Amino acid sequence: MVHDSLSRSVRILLLGEPGVGKTSLILSLVTEEFTEHVPPKAEEITIPADVTPEQVPTNIVDYSVAEQNMEQVTEEIEKAHVICIVFAVDKQETLNKIGSYWLPFIRESCGNDARKPIILVGNKIDLIDYSIIDNIWDIAEEYPEVDRCIECSAKTLTNVSEMFYNAQKAVLHPIAPIYSIEEQE
Ligand code: GTP
Ligand code: MG
Repeated sequence: MVHDSLSRSVRILLLGEPGVGKTSLILSLVTEEFTEHVPPKAEEITIPADVTPEQVPTNIVDYSVAEQNMEQVTEEIEKAHVICIVFAVDKQETLNKIGSYWLPFIRESCGNDARKPIILVGNKIDLIDYSIIDNIWDIAEEYPEVDRCIECSAKTLTNVSEMFYNAQKAVLHPIAPIYSIEEQE
């Protein structure tokens, strides 16, 4: 999908396994502090252009398996310009599910000719003292729509605004080829 820069708005969808911190990341961004108890799903928020680094109005959309069926998620995937798949760096299975479930599911929902940039977000880095970024390259290689990877913590606010900024940038200035070679005719 080529982003229509004239529309000048970016819609970011957060997906990922339960408990990885999707809602916490959104609320930490908005309130600039970490709250222990968050609702399952944050309300959709719009960040006005003038407070975003790229000067584009940005919508942030949460997902909760407790409140949405897969049909609704598919609709949100279709509407999004960029998708952040969040995992918890202290729970390997939440990273495994990205390759085994989320990326195939997003491909299926988008159709092959409308791939969207994807950011892999390793949250809860406050809980570990090593980097897991090396475990991600295999996935990124297999799925060229993976545009960037970032490690962050909703709890310590580390890289939280950077994560959303990178999502904006992935739409406005993609690094990865969003179309794979065999699809470019
Ligand atoms: P679902 O709504 O069930 O899909 O989960 P979610 O991905 O929205 O996760 P949520 O934000 O509800 O966070 C789950 C738990 O992880 C909560 O207890 C949070 O306080 C905790 N948590 C979220 N982010 C962090 C973080 O960066 N560090 C630590 N230590 N805990 C976190
Ligand atoms: Mg949630």
